[in-house]
Amino acid sequence: MRCDHTPAWQALQTHAQAFKGFDLREAFHADAGRADALSQSAPYVFADLSKNHTDTATEALLLALAEQTGLASYRDAMFRGEPINNTEGRAVMHWLLRQPAGSLPNALAEPLAQVHTTLDAMLAYAEQVRADEAITDVVNIGIGGSDLGPQMAVLALQDFVVPGQRFHFVSNVDGHELAAVLKGLKAQNTLFLIASKTFTTIETMTNARSALAWFEAQGGSDVSRHFAALTTNVQAAAAMGITTTFGFWDWVGGRYSMWSAIGLPIAIAVGAQGFRDLLAGAHAMDRHFQTAPLAQNLPVRLGLLDVWYRNFLGYTSRSIAPYHSALRRLPAYLQQLEMESNGKCVDRNGLALPFGTSPVLWGEPGTNGQHAYFQMLHQGTDVVPLEFIAVKKPTHNLAEHHELLLVNAIAQAQALMLGQGDAGGHKHFTGNRPSTFLLLDELTPGSLGALIAMQEHRVFVSGAIWGINSFDQWGVELGKVLARDIRVRMASGDASGLDASTAALLARMR
Ligand code: F6P
Repeated sequence: MRCDHTPAWQALQTHAQAFKGFDLREAFHADAGRADALSQSAPYVFADLSKNHTDTATEALLLALAEQTGLASYRDAMFRGEPINNTEGRAVMHWLLRQPAGSLPNALAEPLAQVHTTLDAMLAYAEQVRADEAITDVVNIGIGGSDLGPQMAVLALQDFVVPGQRFHFVSNVDGHELAAVLKGLKAQNTLFLIASKTFTTIETMTNARSALAWFEAQGGSDVSRHFAALTTNVQAAAAMGITTTFGFWDWVGGRYSMWSAIGLPIAIAVGAQGFRDLLAGAHAMDRHFQTAPLAQNLPVRLGLLDVWYRNFLGYTSRSIAPYHSALRRLPAYLQQLEMESNGKCVDRNGLALPFGTSPVLWGEPGTNGQHAYFQMLHQGTDVVPLEFIAVKKPTHNLAEHHELLLVNAIAQAQALMLGQGDAGGHKHFTGNRPSTFLLLDELTPGSLGALIAMQEHRVFVSGAIWGINSFDQWGVELGKVLARDIRVRMASGDASGLDASTAALLARMR
């Protein structure tokens, strides 16, 4: 049943009315068990949800909504490999990429065996590259899911990267990006990874062709040693002259692909064992999502909270504050994950939805954000739920720095909630501003894997409640088509049939 037709949705609307006067400070006074009741441990991740605009009654109604919309059976359909990406007729099985070898005695045994054959080959190659002293620079050329996951993870795990190899990520078709990277490289010391699920994406194809041309112009000759393609379309890679390839499958969505061959830069950076640890951490979270009761299931609780905020309290965005500089690309990664998955205004059958879906995600690492836009979070007119992500143990020995970092994260969550002063005036903080606090013990391949899988599944949960297909992305197509048309017009100057604004911009830029 569509979520807004369920009894639980009606009950949540009534509850939201009664909730108007909700105050976090009073909620803590009234309920000594609040912090415990609204905390959740999951593999590698502890979550304090108690500073959110929610209570146990809200959670009970949200769980009823999950039941009435069939969340658990939709989740189970994904884990059975059913083609839940209905608009493309595909299964959704990024989770299979982290499933231990030989652990599925059913129809999925064969795809799982293929996953492990490819994984073993890719990890052997990663070790070979790591051992190759001639390769000092690895350049990943890819965009969207073929860039953001690997880039985020290589940065996040920088303390696990053996010295001696530098990693570069070129995504934009803007030649400034590729030119700046190429400037510092030598052909004989560089490995280019051309990462593209489809091997048709114009940005990546253009960058790949330019990298090949540069390589040959620099006297490079052994393309099979210096270029590898990570793609489901190995024929297209071969047509470009790239014969070293690592494949994956159409049931891996681009934004869910860092666990596949697209993760090769991560494997080169942290080694075969590090990559296996990343997969194992994600798998532990998959098991939690699959087996924990919904009421104690962290991705479920987070995804339901997202629905509550978006549809009942009217909060339209979520800010991400990783209090760890190595997680600085996490907000960008999460933007694609959430907004490309759930930024849809129709349901799985293409029928218009009358309620809001994906929130806007944005953010920067703390404490930097505190000195930039936190002003708005504390005193702005909009309520923006903030998601802190902190890591207990640092990998450096600057103890004072880490203490200050963690202290600031806690203090910000506290300040948002408590507020200060009498109503009115510049120094008044209303308080009662919601936040979630996620805590990892350490930032390791395992904990990163679990954190990312948790975010994938929470996006699944809200998308499932909304009745969206979270695994297609038709909204990116129109711009691609129009760019092809404008490209022809840019060459010819033909502005016939264009609107006046577009025609004027074209004339100005020619
Ligand atoms: O245009 C959007 C998109 O298709 C994303 O979904 C995807 O991650 C990105 O482009 C890159 O696609 P590909 O890996 O096929 O080059």
